[in-house]
Amino acid sequence: MQQPFAAFASCQPGLEPLLAGELAALGLPGEAQPGGVAFAADVPALLRGCRWLGTASHVLLRLAEFPCRALGELERKAGLLPWPRWLRGDVPAAVHATARSSRVYHSGAIEQRVARAIGAAFAAPMPELAPAAETAARVHVRFHRDRCTISLDATCTPLHRRGYRLDAASAPLREDLAHALLLAGRFSGHDALLDPFCGSGTIAIEAAGLALGLPPGRLRPPPLAHLALFDAGAWAAETARPGPRSTPAPVVASDRDAGAIEAARDNAGRAGVAAAIEFHVAAFTAHPWLQDPGTAPARGLLATNPPFGVRLGRGGDLAPLYQTLGHRAAKLPAGWRWAVLAHDVRLARRTGLPLRAAFTTRHGGLSVTALAGAPPPG
Ligand SMILES: C[S@@+](CC[C@H](N)C(=O)[O-])C[C@H]1O[C@@H](n2cnc3c(N)ncnc32)[C@H](O)[C@@H]1O
Repeated sequence: MQQPFAAFASCQPGLEPLLAGELAALGLPGEAQPGGVAFAADVPALLRGCRWLGTASHVLLRLAEFPCRALGELERKAGLLPWPRWLRGDVPAAVHATARSSRVYHSGAIEQRVARAIGAAFAAPMPELAPAAETAARVHVRFHRDRCTISLDATCTPLHRRGYRLDAASAPLREDLAHALLLAGRFSGHDALLDPFCGSGTIAIEAAGLALGLPPGRLRPPPLAHLALFDAGAWAAETARPGPRSTPAPVVASDRDAGAIEAARDNAGRAGVAAAIEFHVAAFTAHPWLQDPGTAPARGLLATNPPFGVRLGRGGDLAPLYQTLGHRAAKLPAGWRWAVLAHDVRLARRTGLPLRAAFTTRHGGLSVTALAGAPPPG
């Protein structure tokens, strides 16, 4: 049996505890570190992780670590590694290097030497890498204090690019952040979900996927398929797991912009969850559950990212919008929770809801904070 790899699932800063929870739920306990979670995994576990993780960006496998003080030494040591066990001779390899506090410091030269060592390991020359090619084996070389670590990216494109979002409304939320917001709001998949500022529908689509028990990576090509590591038998076993659950609770999304709702419907269709989401064109104040809370189900999560007031234009003073949202959301039945992603925490506080910061991260060049909470007991 092959030794498990020392793996590192990277994520947006701030999401590490949520990612660690996702890994643990997959039977892959790990250690949260800045920027991700370190864990051990064999190839079947990597296939499972790449398919099911909703908050990860990449999964890196540590291939080798050794002391190194010169480029010649690097090329010799890299040349001793069993590259054909990891890489395919017909898929180009892109080498990316960083160096800090080391005698070997020229990243371009490091990349060239490691690429040459990889090429020498294959009888035929490796294919040329087309500029901006998405399908390539990505090898990362990191020098720190004269130690060289070589890792392989198990993910071709970042995992947050699920593949369903071709139509983006004005300010789409990254899929991993939508997923993280739902986890921060403790979305169970059994209770209702409402996003009254749904834009391109990302939060509702991620919620419907969770409610249906669908893997976030379901539209992506099989993980590791661009590497020699790929195990077709393990992948067949992974995809033969039970199919989607039926969704017992409604996932409802609305936005006042008809164009956004059209894009959201198209995205949901591509994601295979259109039948599980009810879309409405409506101002949030006109949403039936927020207008007449008696019509809302007894339990649910209101998860949303209202206008930030930055990327959507100046938009005047958003405080009244947040105040009204909080006022209406507070009237939902007692079994509801709230999760709000905001750029300006002070605005989120204007909701008056008892929200606590769950994570802070970056999105589209802005700092954003997810706040979550529930009505006080009693
Ligand atoms: C930050 S965007 C939401 C982005 C969304 N999470 C996504 O993934 O695409 C905020 C959305 O709120 C909508 N919006 C702004 N004011 C609204 C209002 N009063 N009622 C309903 N929707 C509103 C905008 O049309 C916009 O789509």
